[in-house]
Amino acid sequence: MPFLTPMQREYRLRANRVWNVKTGATRSGKTYGDYFLLPGRLLAVRGLPGLTVLLGATKGTLTRNLILPMQGIYGASLVGGIRSDNTAVLFGETCHCLGADSVRQVNRLRGSSVKYCYGDEVTTWHPDVFEMLKSRLDKAYSRFDGTCNPEGPTHWFKQFLDRGGEDLYRQSYTIDDNPFNPPEVVARLKRDYAGTVYYDRYIRGLWVAAEGAVYRAFADDPARFAIGEAELADRPLATATLGVDFGGNGSGHAFACTGFERGFRGLITLAEWYHKGEITPERLENAFVDFARACHTRYGARAAYCDSAEPTLILGLRAACAREKVPVEVLKARKGPVNGRIRFLCRMMAGGRYRIHTACPNTREALLTALWDARRRTEDVRLDDGTTNIDSLDALEYSFEPYQQEMLALG
Ligand SMILES: Nc1ncnc2c1ncn2[C@@H]1O[C@H](COP(=O)(O)OP(=O)(O)OP(=O)(O)O)[C@@H](O)[C@H]1O
Ligand SMILES: [Mg+2]
Repeated sequence: MPFLTPMQREYRLRANRVWNVKTGATRSGKTYGDYFLLPGRLLAVRGLPGLTVLLGATKGTLTRNLILPMQGIYGASLVGGIRSDNTAVLFGETCHCLGADSVRQVNRLRGSSVKYCYGDEVTTWHPDVFEMLKSRLDKAYSRFDGTCNPEGPTHWFKQFLDRGGEDLYRQSYTIDDNPFNPPEVVARLKRDYAGTVYYDRYIRGLWVAAEGAVYRAFADDPARFAIGEAELADRPLATATLGVDFGGNGSGHAFACTGFERGFRGLITLAEWYHKGEITPERLENAFVDFARACHTRYGARAAYCDSAEPTLILGLRAACAREKVPVEVLKARKGPVNGRIRFLCRMMAGGRYRIHTACPNTREALLTALWDARRRTEDVRLDDGTTNIDSLDALEYSFEPYQQEMLALG
């Protein structure tokens, strides 16, 4: 048995209710303790009727957060990978490995008893998934271990935790509860989240609402992020990408060009195009061809990531680029969770890794004025009621999304 933190030891001793939940800061040691808890949990239900389920935000995050680290500790013979039928054999027990994002996968639980469920990133699940799980943990020996980072104070999972009761054991972590974190990593995380709602949630482990300016660091001092031609010349780029958001019904059309500095140290909004109001497909295509050609020539942009809700317009841009011989590939944006993209950009800003060219007034204004929606209390929602420019932000996000992981991996 490795050396556990005091919080991890306490969990081992006391987490013997039906619902055992750890919430709190990032890197606080919530998941690590489970690598050594799971073998015993699985052994305890061995041979008993009911399903064993590992439920994550997606199958991919389940693999990354749980399966791969445990394979590293115990080897692939004791901890198998997730097979094509969504099961994995861990310590001899067949576990159903499901992503809460897939209704089809989760529906496999309907009608069966669950004897053990491990829940990862619980706050990201749809509440219906959790409700169904509640009704399935129906054996006297049924048990749930779950972890997540906090969200807003009215989140459905927080409400479940606050109802408490005999069946619930809960623990709440701060980042300082894990003495194994290198001090420089903790210092960097604290700096990266300073002044945002994420500091309270990911560092202090508190359930706090997102309020006011979305990009607070930027709103406080936009001049700090500006970059002009002269300074740009000193910053060689590794690559550049384009993002495209299509408008309609009152929203605008927006293009963004993002440059990634060598070694993925920083990202820079280099160019933009914005049009509010009606526009014919031909004019949109012409504007895009001009924009893409200029960004290719100046910054080496090779790919454009477009709002996937408009496949016809995407085909139009692709055909226009081919016709005009602009060597920019026109692709669908990945469109990962919007709050993940927001959190990413906030971190880049706090870490001094985001800059914006002075020739991008629409994007600058959009970042300055973006607000959390005060009326949507149960989840974080960026205000999108036509009073602020969400289109330039969408385009910006589609452009940087493909390199988010690379940038984060660097620190
Ligand atoms: N008892 C321990 N001994 C050695 N290393 C540990 C211990 N507990 C945690 N760590 C290390 O600290 C880091 C963070 O731990 P962990 O992944 O469990 O955090 P977490 O709370 O699950 O974070 P997140 O909320 O981001 O998922 C990991 O690199 C982990 O290996
Ligand atoms: Mg974790």
